[in-house]
Amino acid sequence: MNQDQLKKATAEAALQYILPHLEKDMVIGIGTGSTARFFIDALAEYKDDFDGCVSSSEASTEQLKSHGIPVYDLNTVSELRFYIDGADETNEHLHLIKGGGAALTREKIIAAVAQEFICIADESKAVGVLGEFPLPVEVIPMARSYVGRELVKLGGDPAYREGVVTDNGNMILDVWNMKIMNPVELEQKINSIVGVVTNGLFANRPADVLLLGTKDGVKTLT
Ligand code: A5P
Repeated sequence: MNQDQLKKATAEAALQYILPHLEKDMVIGIGTGSTARFFIDALAEYKDDFDGCVSSSEASTEQLKSHGIPVYDLNTVSELRFYIDGADETNEHLHLIKGGGAALTREKIIAAVAQEFICIADESKAVGVLGEFPLPVEVIPMARSYVGRELVKLGGDPAYREGVVTDNGNMILDVWNMKIMNPVELEQKINSIVGVVTNGLFANRPADVLLLGTKDGVKTLT
């Protein structure tokens, strides 16, 4: 199986995971990226069995709407049973790096609200220590240089993601060369820098379930 086939198999496993729980009035949280795209396509067949979705990006919103799936403002939703999304890296504690698609802030908000965060990823995303994938940090544009200097003090090597404006109108710094030994602490430290909107570590609110697509099948890790 190639990487895309693993992503698709993982997305289908997530569908099977949630299917027994679908209810007519249920709203589902949807992430961003190629694995989430496979999930949206698979979910579309069951669109009459739930109410609609909240979405972490304009791209996913567009795809959901193209399938005729209603997309709601999170503020109008009282309960979010599931959030399904991919990741750029995961460790054995289901701490994640996310934000390769620049949607980290909305993703983190939806993850915070959801009762159960199901992460869907192929086996290439599983690592011992987070940080080989550059850590995305969403930054208010006028704070770019200041935040960059503070990230250097934390041992990172920040690089401006050229040409990218987030759905919230901000910019992304990708922080290279971080060996993230304590993701819970680093997530809090970076978020406390003035001008940072949020960073792509999902450690204080990790995934609840990881469906990991491997050549030997999709593994369920909790
Ligand atoms: C989006 O901002 C990211 O958090 C994605 O979840 C992540 O990049 C995973 O993408 P793929 O499913 O395309 O690997």
